Order: sequence, then structure tokens, then C-alpha cells
Amino acid sequence: MIGVILAAGKSIRMMSDKTKLLHDLCGKPVIFYPAELMKSLKMKRIIMVVNDKIKSEMEKLFQGWNIDFVLQKEQTGTATAFLCALENISSQSCEYLFVMGGDTPLLDRCNAERFIEFVRSRNLEVGLISAVLDEPAGYGRIKRKDGRLEKIVEAKEASREEIKINEVNSGIYMIKSSCAQKLLTEVVRKSTHKEYYLTDIVEYAEKKEAYLVSNSDVILGINTRKEQSLIRKKLQAKIIEKLLNAGVTIIDPDNTYIDYDVKIGKDSIIHPQVCMRGSTIVGQNCIIDTGSVIEDSVISDEVSIYPYSVIEKSHIGKGCSIGPFSHLRPEVVLKENVKIGNFVEVKKSVVGENTKASHLTYIGDAEIGKDTNIGAGTITCNYDGYKKNKTKIGDRVFIGSNTEIVAPVEIDNDAITAAGTTVTKYVPPYSLAISRVPQQNIENWVKRYRKRKECAE
Ligand code: UD1
Ligand code: CA
Repeated sequence: MIGVILAAGKSIRMMSDKTKLLHDLCGKPVIFYPAELMKSLKMKRIIMVVNDKIKSEMEKLFQGWNIDFVLQKEQTGTATAFLCALENISSQSCEYLFVMGGDTPLLDRCNAERFIEFVRSRNLEVGLISAVLDEPAGYGRIKRKDGRLEKIVEAKEASREEIKINEVNSGIYMIKSSCAQKLLTEVVRKSTHKEYYLTDIVEYAEKKEAYLVSNSDVILGINTRKEQSLIRKKLQAKIIEKLLNAGVTIIDPDNTYIDYDVKIGKDSIIHPQVCMRGSTIVGQNCIIDTGSVIEDSVISDEVSIYPYSVIEKSHIGKGCSIGPFSHLRPEVVLKENVKIGNFVEVKKSVVGENTKASHLTYIGDAEIGKDTNIGAGTITCNYDGYKKNKTKIGDRVFIGSNTEIVAPVEIDNDAITAAGTTVTKYVPPYSLAISRVPQQNIENWVKRYRKRKECAE
């Protein structure tokens, strides 16, 4: 079998500058899903029909997938799109062509395999998947005569009687390779519409049947933003169900956003309004509390992420605790049992085991050892207006509150900085760094001050 994905349409109803097939669905473009399905069905070849506007982008997206791209120069309908693919296939090279639109992302392998078996066992010329929809809207209607498939009528051309039919065409077909050319020639010759419809092959085929799926969701297509949001929800529900079955607690599945590639270990708990994006991996026994956003990051086992934390492209070690309201920007590595607390921002830094930065701190371009404590209000002054400079802090260091560390600089093992210190030069091991104006107490100053102010009134 050879797989053909039609992806050259104009996406007019999407009201977008880019093709609907590159819009996002749970972290992947729409077109990813049919391509992934074709791959899982082990097609002999996969052909994707594209237009010149998207060709290079599609080639880039599917690098290494072994997909053949075929150009449809003029968007004159699904029949011409299929014809473009057919010109690249010799009729002897396969028995059947499995054809589907690139905008139909919910078809799963199980239903596809049953459909394939259905068509093969009946030796059909044309088979298609149909479904019954409560609101058949713009889908092509399945017209039957004495219960047998007769033809497909597009919604915009349906009569008042035909439009009431709620069995619809999925746009997913199996077409016998040896008949394909003949059927398409008929379509082009006899067409009376503005475009050439692939659906018309049904009328001209002799041995044809529709395979009615019981779960109508699997045939839903995306033409509009509304359909995109509906399908996203259904896809999200599938992703979440898989995680629930694998032992992850998801407190409110309707309000949790987890991308297709995200992996989560068992006994982890995901609270509402969490977004987990891209290639994020979470270990076992983690807590991801409400409102947190995690993107392309690795979270090891037993990590707690408290509410409203943002983590991007970072690696979090076992047993760490983060947030509430922490921001880990790209390239952060936290070793085991690190604590990053309230309103702490970390960027491009490595933080050693058991080190804590519990409150109101900025750590950027730093390398921090183990068992170190970073006091509240500490700032690594990493930027001099021209470039970023590195800060190095050793093991068992105590950084007093409100320390400014002017990089590049190093604070060595077992050193202490006094609260309010501005560190501008190397601090040796076991030293106290203090830069502070000595305190003076001026006795009864307040009394004199008040008197002065009150007399002036
Ligand atoms: C099509 C079917 C309709 C079916 C529905 C299912 C036709 C005429 N109608 O309608 O019966 O119910 O799918 O979702 O086929 N494309 C091209 N080149 C073109 C036009 C379209 O490659 O010139 C591609 C599109 O990118 C898309 C697919 O073909 O992936 C389907 O086209 P679309 O315009 O979405 O067809 P529908 O109106 O949804
Ligand atoms: Ca469509």
C-alpha cells in the first residue's frame, strides 16, 4: 500500500496567513498526525501533495521521514491533488492507495487497520470511511440507494433532502491502484463543479462501500479555527487518558494542557491550569502545582513545583523544590535537592546539590556549588552593558541577604558575604567579604527632627 496525504489546499476558511496544516495541535502541527499515522501503518511509500507556498517548510518539518513531496501547482480541488500524486506512482507498484486529507488528525491506527481489512476482504475498487454526525455541517453527504453506497454529495451542492443526511464522508479512502487512473479521468471529464472533486470517484466506481466508524470523532477535519479548538480538546483528552491509565493523577483533565510528546512518570500529580509543552519529561512522584508552565525540560523524580512557576529548557534534579512564582529560563541545571523559592529567577546556571535560593533573587550565568545558601535579594550582576559575565560560587558558601555580586568574580568554598555587600573581587575560602558603611547611632536625633518640622508648620 502507498499512502497519499493531500496537503496542497488554500486553507481559506482558517482566515490565516499560513496553511491550517501548520497550525498547532498539542505541540505538533496538524499535518504531523496523518503523517505519523501513515508511518505507523508501515506504508511502502508516503506521498504528500503540497503547494509551492509550503513545500520547503514541509520538507524541513519532515526531514528524515522518507516522505516524497509532490507539487500541485494550481489548487483546483482534491481530485487534481490526487492526480498529482498518481503521476508519480506506477499502477503496478502497489495494490491499494490509502488517501487522506492532511487536515484529519484524529484517525487512529486501530480504526485505520479495521478499515483496511474491510476494503481488502471485499476486494473493493473504492472504500471510504464514513461517520454519523449530529451536526454534519460542511461535510460531504453519503448518498445510499437501497442501503448501498451510491455517491457523495458535497454540502454546498446538496438538495434540501440531501443536506439532511447525517452520514458523512471522512475524506479517507482506499483506492485500488489499477482503477485509479480510469476513475480520475472520468471525474475530470464529467465534472460540472468549479473544482474537481475526488469524492466523485465513488459515483464512477463499481465495487464500492463505506466503512461506518462507531466513534465519529476520528473523522473530524479542520477547516476553521472553531474546528481546530474542538479537535485540540479531543486530542488533549486522548493524551490525558493515556497518562491517567499509566498512573498519573490529573486533577482536572478539562483544564490541563499537555503536549503530545510530554512524558510523565507514575504517581506524579498534575494540578489544574498546568501547561506542559514540547519535549518535557517528568519523573515519578512529582507535584506540578497549579498554573505552572513547563517547556522542553527534564524534571527528575520527586520534584515539587509550586504554583505559578515557569520552567524553560532546563534540567531539574531529583528532589528539588521550585516556586511558588519561580522562573527558570533556558539552560538551567539544578542538581539534587536544590530549592529555588518565591520570586527567584535563574538563567543559564548550574546549581549544586542542597543549595538554596529561597527568596527574591536573580542568578544568571552562574556556577554555584553544593550546600550553599543564597540570601534573599541576592543579585548576580552579570551584564555590564556589553556582555554577560560569569559568577562562580563554591561549596558551603553563605551569601548574606542583599548581596550584589558584580561578575566576573568568584566566591570560594566556605566563604561568607555579609548582608548588603557588593562583591567586586575574589573572596578566598573561609573569608568574610564585607563592604558596608559602619553604622552610627545619633542619639535623640528624631526628637530634634520632629521639633524642626513641627515649628516650620
Ligand atoms: C473534503 C471532501 C468532503 C469530506 C471532507 C472531510 C471533497 C470535494 N470533499 O471536503 O466530502 O466530507 O473533505 O474532511 O474532497 N487539498 C489539496 N488540493 C486542493 C484542495 C484541497 O491538496 O486543490 C487538500 C487540503 O489541503 C485538505 C484536503 O485536500 O487537506 C481536503 O480539502 P478541503 O478543502 O479541506 O475539503 P473539504 O471541503 O473539507
Ligand atoms: Ca477539510
